Amino acid sequence: MKAASALDYRALAKARLPRFLFEYIDGGSYAEVTLKRNVADLEAVALRQRVMADVSRIELGTRLFGHDMAMPVALGPVGLSGMYGRRGETLAARAAAAAGIPFTLSTVSVCPLAEVAKASPAPIWFQLYMVRDRGFMRDLLDQARAAGCSALVFTLDMAVAGTRYRDFHSGLAGAPGPMGSLRRFGQAAMRPRWAWDVGINGRPHQLGNVAPVLGKKSGLNDFFGWIGSNFDPAVTWKDLDFVRENWDGPLVLKGILDPDDARAAADFGADGIVVSNHGGRQLDGVLSSARALPPIADAVGERLTVLVDGGVRSGLDVVRMLALGAKGVLLGRAWAYALGGGGEAGVAHLLQLIEAEMRVAMALTGVTDVKAIGRDILAD
Ligand code: FNR
Repeated sequence: MKAASALDYRALAKARLPRFLFEYIDGGSYAEVTLKRNVADLEAVALRQRVMADVSRIELGTRLFGHDMAMPVALGPVGLSGMYGRRGETLAARAAAAAGIPFTLSTVSVCPLAEVAKASPAPIWFQLYMVRDRGFMRDLLDQARAAGCSALVFTLDMAVAGTRYRDFHSGLAGAPGPMGSLRRFGQAAMRPRWAWDVGINGRPHQLGNVAPVLGKKSGLNDFFGWIGSNFDPAVTWKDLDFVRENWDGPLVLKGILDPDDARAAADFGADGIVVSNHGGRQLDGVLSSARALPPIADAVGERLTVLVDGGVRSGLDVVRMLALGAKGVLLGRAWAYALGGGGEAGVAHLLQLIEAEMRVAMALTGVTDVKAIGRDILAD
C-alpha cells in the first residue's frame, strides 16, 4: 500500500511492528474516552469555506522561541521511538530537520541525547520529566545544553503514570520476568522484517538517557520499574525553579489542560506551554485538547506561546488547532505511525503530506499567511 495519510501509516505500522509496540503507540488509558475525544472533537471543528481571495501564494513559515520554522509544526516527544525504526529517534530527527521543523527527543528515548543531536543536521528540542534524582536531571540538562538543544519541553502531566489496558493485554506491561519477555519475543518473531532490521540490527535497546543510572538492568521491565520508582509525585510549581536555574534557554511546559494552570505557567515565566492531555494516555475522561485550547489561549495567549497536541492527524487538523488559538502544533502518534510504517522516508513523506494539506486548507479558507490564522476562519 502506498500511504497517502497518517491513517495509512497507522495501518502500515500495525502490519510491520510487533503487536506490543503498535498497541503501545496506538493506545490510551482506561476506556480511551479522551483519546477518542481528541480526534472526534478536532474533526468536528468546522471551517468557513471562502472563495475569490487570491490564494496563489501561501506562506507557512513562522518563528517560535527565536527560531525560524518552515511551518508551525514540531515532532513532539514520543518515548521508545528507537523501537519503531532502526535507531528510530535519529531517523525522525533527520526527517524533521529536512522539513525545516524541530524534533523533540523524549527523556525515555532509545537513542541517547548525544547520538540524536549528532545525527540531526539542525538543533533539536529536548523533553524532560521531573524525577526524584535531581542529579540525573541536572546532568541531562547539561547534556542538552552541550548538544545545542534549542528548547526544553518540560512535561508536567506525569506525576503518576496512567493505566493503559492495552499494554497489559499485549504483554508490554504487567508481567515482569520471563513471561512478558517470551510474549514479546513471540510477537517480534511474527514480524521478521522488523526483527532483523530493528530487533537485531537496531541494538542496543536501552533507554539511552536512563541507561547510565540503570546500569546493567536496562531492559523493558527495568524501564517500567524505573518510571514507577523515580517519577516525582511531590512536584509543585516551586520545584520548577530548579529547572530554571539549570536551563537558560526557552522553557515550554507540556501537559496543561486548564486555564488556571496556564495562568500559573505564565506567572512562573514559562516561554511557552503545550495544551495537552498526553494524547489521552494519562487521565481518561478529561477534556479533549481541541476543547481545552480556546479558553487557555484567551487566558494566556498574550503572555506566552501556546502550543497544542492531541488528535492531530493531518494538515487540516493543524489548521484547525491554529484557528482555535495555538501558535504551533506538536505531532505525536502521527509521526510514530509514519516511522513504524515507513521509516525515515515515512516521516519525511508524512511531513510533506501535512504541509500540502495545510496549503489546501488555508487556500480554501482564504488565508494566505499561517500567522494570520485565527477564529475568523471557524464556522461556529
Ligand atoms: C507519548 N507522549 C509523550 N509525552 C512526553 O512528554 N514524553 C514522552 O516520553 C511521551 N511518550 C509518548 C509515547 C507514545 C507512544 C505516545 C503516543 C505519546 C505524549 C505525546 O508527546 C503527545 O502529547 C501525544 O502523543 C499527542 O497526542 P496524539 O497526537 O498522539 O494524538
